[in-house]
Amino acid sequence: MSDFEPLMNLDIMLALMLSVVWGVASVLIGRHPARRSARRPRIRPIVLLVAIALGTVLVGVRTWTAAQMGAHSWLFAADRVVVALPIVGLPVLAALALSVPRLLAEARDPTPQARLATFQPVAVLPIWAALTGALVGFSGTIFVPLAPPLAQPASTIYVVDALVLGAAWWWQRRRCAMVEGYHRRKWTVRILRAAGATAAALVVLVGALTLAQRTSRLPEQMSMASHDHATTTAGVHPVSVTDLTGPAAAPQRRFTLTAQAAPVRLASGRVLDGWTFNGQVPGPEIRVRQGDQVEVTVRNELTDTDVAVHWHGIDVPNSMDGVPGVTQDAIRPGGSFVYRFQARDAGTYWYHSHSQGSVQVKKGLFGALIVDPADGPAGGTGAGSGAAADRADWLVAQHTWYTGPGLPSAADLAHAVPAFGTTDGTERRTAAPGTTVRLRLLNTDSLTRNFVVTGTPFRVVAIDGNAVNRPTDVHDVRLVLGAGARYDVEFAMPDHPVRLSELRDPAGGIVVTPDGTGDVATVESTVDFDPTRYGTPAPTPFGPDSRFTREYEVLLDNHLGFYDGRFTFLWTMNGRVFPDVPPVVVREGDLVKLTYANRSHYDHPMHLHGHHMLVLSRNDKPVTGSPLWLDTVTVRVGEVWAVAFRADNPGIWMDHCHIFEHAADGMMTHVMYEGVTSPFQVGSNTPNDPE
Ligand code: C2O
Ligand code: CU
Repeated sequence: MSDFEPLMNLDIMLALMLSVVWGVASVLIGRHPARRSARRPRIRPIVLLVAIALGTVLVGVRTWTAAQMGAHSWLFAADRVVVALPIVGLPVLAALALSVPRLLAEARDPTPQARLATFQPVAVLPIWAALTGALVGFSGTIFVPLAPPLAQPASTIYVVDALVLGAAWWWQRRRCAMVEGYHRRKWTVRILRAAGATAAALVVLVGALTLAQRTSRLPEQMSMASHDHATTTAGVHPVSVTDLTGPAAAPQRRFTLTAQAAPVRLASGRVLDGWTFNGQVPGPEIRVRQGDQVEVTVRNELTDTDVAVHWHGIDVPNSMDGVPGVTQDAIRPGGSFVYRFQARDAGTYWYHSHSQGSVQVKKGLFGALIVDPADGPAGGTGAGSGAAADRADWLVAQHTWYTGPGLPSAADLAHAVPAFGTTDGTERRTAAPGTTVRLRLLNTDSLTRNFVVTGTPFRVVAIDGNAVNRPTDVHDVRLVLGAGARYDVEFAMPDHPVRLSELRDPAGGIVVTPDGTGDVATVESTVDFDPTRYGTPAPTPFGPDSRFTREYEVLLDNHLGFYDGRFTFLWTMNGRVFPDVPPVVVREGDLVKLTYANRSHYDHPMHLHGHHMLVLSRNDKPVTGSPLWLDTVTVRVGEVWAVAFRADNPGIWMDHCHIFEHAADGMMTHVMYEGVTSPFQVGSNTPNDPE
């Protein structure tokens, strides 16, 4: 856990405590003089003074937590500084200046005048204002996501707060004016009035909730960019995603992937109902040479389920990107779609369904796509096979299988079986000493996974498919792979066993031995491998000091609220959820800088389609090792990553959290090239459900 998370939790706790303390103070200060205790008249002012003191200290501490959060990133503190702190802090200052002296006087000598003085609006309103401010601050932490740009939401909040307090002032003045003739109403009247007020409050509350629920419904169909809504500027000629096919070229390699239901048999003997490509999980490995023109025909033989296949990490032409509702219509049962693209970059990639990913990928609709360098060794993978006798090249697709009834769910921990491919438990392999062993680690899950190689120093030779410049030996470090990430690890086989394990199951994994005997236990490591300080720098086409033509900052956050009619956790980008997150609009040739800051309680692996992102910095520290090119940036809790990409692949490209559940609950947007339109639509009335 980072040091950020306790800070954030403290900040939320403080916001809650502020509401409670100022709530108590508000009730006490508003109590009618005629109804205050006559026997112990000092109690009330003293309790109030204590509450005010406590409430003041809490504001001070929350100012400190905001400053600490702001030290990580201005994005983390902006709403605190602009809204949450001043809206409670200014009333607190007013309470210290106006209410406290009157309360002190009453505590010292509770004369009738002194008691009346603390009932005047000037003494009461600062405390009520502190309460409304505290409530605003609290709801900002869990109900109403606020993120820069704040000018509009902040001014709305201040205006509404001022109106509410103005009404309260008027009401309190009236109560003061009538203090003389006060007589307690009959109990029946009081009960009726209380019941009426409660009913009115309930009606307002239920009405507001219903409205929020209704308005959260996603449209039955909508376009990411139809001809009318395309982000077109003068001089940019409109083009449809369907025309963005890349240059026509005869395919050199052809594959067919057939989505079909099939039982998935795990090594332990467990069997579950899977959705597979060609009956296998992972799906057939697509292995090609760099430069190859690849053609993949995807057929859908599932019943009642639409699919679409995305080539994760490969910068394909937009129409081949496999995003239903954006670049194509999902493939209906019985239908097919032909994908064509050139494998331009060598490396480890993968393909997976991009239709209801949170279900389909979990059930098995994924596989590896490996591009061998044009001039390097090629080879098949699979148990024991290798291109040459002195090389072993193994795909390790880490996947969690759900054996429970119903749809797979990441929350279903009781039925989650961690596995490498279909191997749950331990798998043994052999490699002669001296063999160069390459493990292509792929995290197909939604959650971040930690891997450990025990028994030998090793090198991380590629990350997200991109070769690391001059990797050096490391050992006993944890390899932290966010969802969708790939790490290629290489070592020279020693004369003793080596184990690769994933830390949820340290006793499992792959044990490689020279002769089929022996074992080694997973080392306990606490040090995370840091890809930003690994390898050697090399020239890059742009860097932190480049002039960026577009810059976007994205605050990743979570809140409670309605999404598509359900009450749930919303995963927000700048306080908004899909489809209200503004797209990142670019023009071909732009150099775009994206800053992701994570203020939520979860890692967010942010995946941009169609482009490679060069990491500029993490937590403001520039990359000091090899250039780090990623297609998925795992922004851990409290982290800030600055990345950049060249807009050189026109289209409409998803930019989303690779935790499909998060994407499905709002955390997605698009990088949109000006002038690009799409004839496809998403929504419940269409076959298209990108997540
Ligand atoms: Cu690997 Cu948009 O996904
Ligand atoms: Cu996420």
